[in-house]
Amino acid sequence: MSEVLKISVDLSGKLDLINKRLAEVLKTDNERLNEMSSYTISSGGKRLRPLIILLVYELNTTKPVENVLDLSVAYEIMHSASLIHDDIIDESEERRGVPSLHKKYGLEDAIVTGDYLFSVAYRIGASYGTDVSIVVAKAAQKLAEGQIEESMNLGNFDITEDTYFNIITNKTAYFFGAGAKTAAMVAGSSQQDQDNMFTFAFNVGMAFQIADDILDIVGKEENTGKPPFTDIKHSALTLPMIYALNHGDEAGKKLLKSVLKGKNVDQESIKKAKQFLIDSGSVDYSLEKAKDFIDKAIESEKTAKISPNLQTLFEIAYSVISRIRI
Ligand code: IPE
Ligand code: IPE
Ligand code: MG
Ligand code: MG
Repeated sequence: MSEVLKISVDLSGKLDLINKRLAEVLKTDNERLNEMSSYTISSGGKRLRPLIILLVYELNTTKPVENVLDLSVAYEIMHSASLIHDDIIDESEERRGVPSLHKKYGLEDAIVTGDYLFSVAYRIGASYGTDVSIVVAKAAQKLAEGQIEESMNLGNFDITEDTYFNIITNKTAYFFGAGAKTAAMVAGSSQQDQDNMFTFAFNVGMAFQIADDILDIVGKEENTGKPPFTDIKHSALTLPMIYALNHGDEAGKKLLKSVLKGKNVDQESIKKAKQFLIDSGSVDYSLEKAKDFIDKAIESEKTAKISPNLQTLFEIAYSVISRIRI
């Protein structure tokens, strides 16, 4: 099953708007492309980025949220495109609880579907004018930079926390920030408010990627909708692994390194590596770091007037870390 966002506020109206518009803007005359893009979009997804965009817009203006709907959908489409390509890179066979697109339709057509989705997103972005479309394109640019930086560090046991934070800044957090910033731009907010919105969502994005990296180790497939241990199997050193390699016991470190090298990828070794990661305190440590980013996100809104919308955004921010239950 694909994960849903668990918060107390009913966001089903917004989700319906997003899902309906996604289906409309992705229609093409090409039947196979239609099938592949609807497979990608209708398999689920939390719609976290477009929801934040709609809420940020409403926080900044009383104008109808429909004005920013297409922009929110553009980010979700870019995000989905990045996941198609990411699953090819990570050799991951499941996404949102169903076979990943390249598993179902083959590598060639999956790559092109990703390209198609990126193109639709840029087209929508352009309809909001030059300033907004530059930020939209920059978000995709950063994402590519982060992905390449990650691949340059695969199997690098000496990777520092700073390098890790740089990778997730580019591949995930900037994208969140850009979405919120452009929502404020469309709302006609001041530069200061645009910057605050960027900072808020950027920090949520940082926490979100750390949480995702924790869930790769301790998460359950039936909740996340994707196979666990993808990062370990792909030799991607995430924050918990970096911490464990610096603070864990020697035997554990040796075991984790051998799994990361692809030498011991049997279930038993992976189970032991998972236990080592937990015992070393790396999961708790990473969770604390994620919490720090949520604190920073909340702090960025300290001068904002409390409103139901702001409270919903805060609740979404906290939900990013409460997804983790060990
Ligand atoms: C997955 O994002 C990729 C990361 C940045 C960790 P999501 O967890 O938001 O994916 P969906 O859209 O809900 O499937
Ligand atoms: C996020 O990284 C990928 C993008 C930002 C495109 P992950 O590789 O951790 O994402 P999942 O875990 O496959 O969703
Ligand atoms: Mg991946
Ligand atoms: Mg992941």
